[in-house]
Amino acid sequence: MILSEEEIDRTLRHGPWPPAVTLDPSNRVSGNANAIALGEVLFSDPVLSKDGAMSCSSCHQPGRDFTDGVARAEGRKTLDRNTQALWNLAGQRWFGWSGDSDSLWAQNLTPLLNPAEMGHDAHSVQSAFLESAHRPEYEVLFGDLSLESALETTVNVSKVLAAYIETLRSGKTSFDHFRDALAQGDMKMAAQYPEPAQRGLQIFIGRGNCAFCHSGPAFTNGEFHDAAVPYLLKQGRVDPGRAEGIDRLLGSPFTLNGDFTDDPRKSGAWAVRNVRFQHGNFGIFRVPTLRRAARTSPYMHDGSLPDLAAVVQHYDKIDMERLHSDGEAILRPLGLSDQDAENLEAFLKTLSDD
Ligand code: HEC
Ligand code: HEC
Repeated sequence: MILSEEEIDRTLRHGPWPPAVTLDPSNRVSGNANAIALGEVLFSDPVLSKDGAMSCSSCHQPGRDFTDGVARAEGRKTLDRNTQALWNLAGQRWFGWSGDSDSLWAQNLTPLLNPAEMGHDAHSVQSAFLESAHRPEYEVLFGDLSLESALETTVNVSKVLAAYIETLRSGKTSFDHFRDALAQGDMKMAAQYPEPAQRGLQIFIGRGNCAFCHSGPAFTNGEFHDAAVPYLLKQGRVDPGRAEGIDRLLGSPFTLNGDFTDDPRKSGAWAVRNVRFQHGNFGIFRVPTLRRAARTSPYMHDGSLPDLAAVVQHYDKIDMERLHSDGEAILRPLGLSDQDAENLEAFLKTLSDD
């Protein structure tokens, strides 16, 4: 066994996988089989775009791990950011690269109502559903559509989509089999995990400090950090990242603290109630999950890194100038040998081979 006791201990913290299924108390159709089935159909139905030209799956392509393979999403114009894969979102605290929303259903409202994406408004969503073939299935879930306000229909549609998206769980990978073997003390089983991946794992949980942010079973702490990715956009604009997310959260009627949650106890609303703007929020982004990441290139919020080798190189040669002055000093140039870099990449790939 290459790993020390201490390293085994740290490895165990990245599991078990998959986590237990939890329902979203803010969404009354969470876990509802009819809603999940309708959500899956709607996800690929152009009825969700005002002119019928686009669906969620135009960008989140199910056969491509719910991404599109381009650096920045192509909507009616090129968006500022990379399309996120939709794996393992159930139970997250924040959504979007900058955490614009604190629930999955609220996050789904953004593409629906964004003129550069689906381009709907609440009234057009409702009239599309009044005429659509999905009306009967919708009414089984929510009752008579014609008695609702347009905003209620729009939020309900977002909740149906969320019921589907929260079922997208990535499977067990060779890393998980290794971790399970360690948990059971089965060293013979554990030895089947390739040595390069074991050495890469040592860097990940050790001197690379990767697990500081990419922690836990989903390899993310779900929060916002500075990974030294430039946040300048063309035309001298910047992407304010979490700073913009906080602005949007605090101005949104659709948070867990608002009137559209189905949870009378408003559990989870403490997070948004405690959000405060700080200068350090500029240009920081949500830590992505690394599960299935080998299949979701290009990388980072702006899609600027083409493959995992480039990501490893980015962290190895990290540009300290780019870390904000009030940044976290967690990242340092790593001085990896070619072999180290290959091992780290080999480890990352074992999070995607389910
Ligand atoms: C034009 C391409 C495009 C379309 C169409 C699109 N999305 Fe997205 N999606 C994106 C991009 C880009 C992001 C990252 C947004 C951000 O953080 O700025 C994203 C992020 C998300 C997220 C957040 C994922 C996470 O990790 O937090 C969810 C959920 C989502 N989209 C659902 C949907 C749904 C549902 C639809 C259809 C109603 C949809 N998207 C349509 C490009 C698209
Ligand atoms: C300080 C917190 C932090 C540390 C430490 C860290 N990361 Fe990240 N990681 C992030 C953030 C934040 C992003 C997204 C940055 C962005 O888009 O601007 C990211 C993005 C990534 C991505 C791209 C995923 C995707 O879907 O786009 C990979 C792969 C990755 N990190 C691997 C690593 C590895 C390997 C290490 C260790 C060498 C590491 N990270 C260390 C915070 C961190």
